[in-house]
This record gives sequence, structure tokens and C-alpha cells, in this order.
Amino acid sequence: IFRASGLVSLPSILLLGPSGSGKTSLLTLFERGANASTHTSQSPIAVECSLPVGAIARTDKYRSMNDPTNLTHKKFLLLDTPGHGKLRHHALETITNPQNLKGVIFLLDAANMAAGDEGLRQTAGYLHDVLLLLQKRMSNGTSKAPKEMAILIAANKMDLFTALPAALVKSSLETEITKLRVSRSKGLLDSGVNMGDDGEDNDDWLGEMGSKDFKLSQMEEFNIMVEVACGNVTGNANVEKWWKWVGDRL
Ligand code: GTP
Ligand code: MG
Repeated sequence: IFRASGLVSLPSILLLGPSGSGKTSLLTLFERGANASTHTSQSPIAVECSLPVGAIARTDKYRSMNDPTNLTHKKFLLLDTPGHGKLRHHALETITNPQNLKGVIFLLDAANMAAGDEGLRQTAGYLHDVLLLLQKRMSNGTSKAPKEMAILIAANKMDLFTALPAALVKSSLETEITKLRVSRSKGLLDSGVNMGDDGEDNDDWLGEMGSKDFKLSQMEEFNIMVEVACGNVTGNANVEKWWKWVGDRL
């Protein structure tokens, strides 16, 4: 989908997450440095962004301050995808068939994460599916798989007083995914998908086999590095941690 854009040679960052979490708002901010109103997305878009001065890309870290290449902004491609449940294949296809993919930002609405809430269930469900897909990709052993994949869980809308802080976003997601991975693997057993399997190598189990509680750190075993950082896009935007994370991937 993004291939037609002609920008494929640039390192790319994939933006995904539930509908309404602020992905297109973030894209507009990253692209233009200013907010603009958005509509719910029905198709993916790719835009070229430049790392702002101040956020130094990893490959520039050891260059001398007088090096003229420091003056050129690091460019990358930001891929925005629709969050609606029926349109998520755009995001998932980019994970299975990536072009120069350097990282994935999972943007969520931290004000829509109360325990027992449908918002939390939906968000955790999408994150579970994304992580499982990445896990499968990283562990299938072909040379096509990258050495490491980084995913940033960006907890957005911190300007709202109902927003959970980053630590609570993390633990809520872990608790919810713990429940989810049990019910999903049971569902597979019930439907007979795993018949004849002794269950020892269940491909659809996220994270550490045999573990009772899911922790995001379990993804490290698959060389998937997960970080959680909060911010907000609209109002008095605070996206510095996210910029820094992007800079570290370029
Ligand atoms: P889909 O395209 O449907 O997947 O949604 P999206 O993730 O692209 O959401 P979008 O960027 O369209 O934003 C949805 C709503 O959230 C808009 O009304 C934004 O103004 C609002 N929004 C985005 N970021 C923030 C934020 O940091 N704080 C607050 N309060 N609202 C935000
Ligand atoms: Mg959108």
C-alpha cells in the first residue's frame, strides 16, 4: 500500500492503535509541527517527516559537532493507519511485509483505560494481536526477520485529567493481556485448531510459555523491545519522549 508512494527508501515508522487515539493528529503534528483537525481514517497514509533539531538520531551521536552532516535533518516516513477494527489489516500487512521498518508506535488513549472498561479491552486486544504478529515474525527463523524490533506504547491525551500515568497504562495492559491470552488460546483449543498438538509449542501464545502473568518484558526474548511513554498531541503538545524514541531508531 505504501510502496506506491515512491518514498520507500526512507526508514519508516509505523503508527497504529485503536480508533480515536490520536494517530492522524500526531502525524499532522510530526509533519508540520502544528495541530490540525482530523477525521477518522479510512485508508493508510504515508508522509515524510524530519526529526526536529535537538532530537539527535542515533547514527549522529558520535559525529563531531562541526560535522556538516549534523545540519541536515534526519528524514523518515511516518505511516498512519486506520484504527477501526475492520480496517486494521492495513497496519498488520505492514508488519508482515515491511519496507525498511525501524519501529512501531502503538498510540492509545490513556483517558480511555479504566479497569473493566470496553476501551481497555479493545486497546489490549489490538496490542495483543500486534505483539503476537511481531513475535511470529521474529521467531520464524528466516533471514528476512530483523535482528530486533522496537515498539513504543505511546500513552496519549495526558492533558485530560482522567488519563492514567504511564506506569498504570503499562500494568493495566499487562493485566488485561494476561486474561486475553488465556481466553484466546482456549478458544483455539475449543475450535479444534490445535487438535493433535500437545500444546507444548502453541504458536498463538503471546510471550513466555507457561508464565502465569503476561509482562511486556517477556517480548525481549523475541528481540522485541517494548517501551511505554506518555504525552499529548493537542493543546500544549508534549511529544518530546516520542521524538526521542524515533530519533533513537534512525
Ligand atoms: P482513526 O483514524 O479512527 O484510527 O483515529 P486516530 O487515531 O487517527 O484519531 P485522530 O487523530 O483522528 O484523533 C481523534 C480525536 O482525539 C480528535 O478529536 C483529536 O483532536 C483528539 N486528540 C488527539 N490527541 C489528543 C490529545 O493529546 N489530547 C486530547 N484531549 N485529545 C486528543
Ligand atoms: Mg486517523
